[in-house]
Amino acid sequence: MLWKDKYELGVPVIDAQHKELFKRVESFLQILRSGDSWDEKVPKINETLEFMKKYVVEHFRDEEEYQRNINYPRYEAHKQIHDSMVNYVQDVSKQYEQSNNNEYLMQQFGGKLLAWLINHVAAEDQLIADYAIKKGMRDNDR
Ligand SMILES: [Fe+2]
Repeated sequence: MLWKDKYELGVPVIDAQHKELFKRVESFLQILRSGDSWDEKVPKINETLEFMKKYVVEHFRDEEEYQRNINYPRYEAHKQIHDSMVNYVQDVSKQYEQSNNNEYLMQQFGGKLLAWLINHVAAEDQLIADYAIKKGMRDNDR
């Protein structure tokens, strides 16, 4: 498991969503790297991709709501990062459909997705927790 407890923000709903994202991205990579033929992998890949497309949007929406609730000062900048990630996921999945399930596209995507997730949760999202702790707000939001 690539998830680490130090990634927790102390907000149970958000932490659970982050864990779920890690789990799904990991299983996505496992499918990509397995010894099965690409044709065998495609249905599982498509299923995970569809899930991610929806789940990422829902998670960002909840996390942004939490940021607004605590008056997080970096909200706008953080939302922009989320929005560009959503655009990226949608672009890739459109390209993937148009290319008729191109394997190379998904291999690239899997790597980028994992790198983005770790980076974002371990760095940018931690700033939200730092702010909430500094303002003494975290306990109230649990
Ligand atoms: Fe975030």
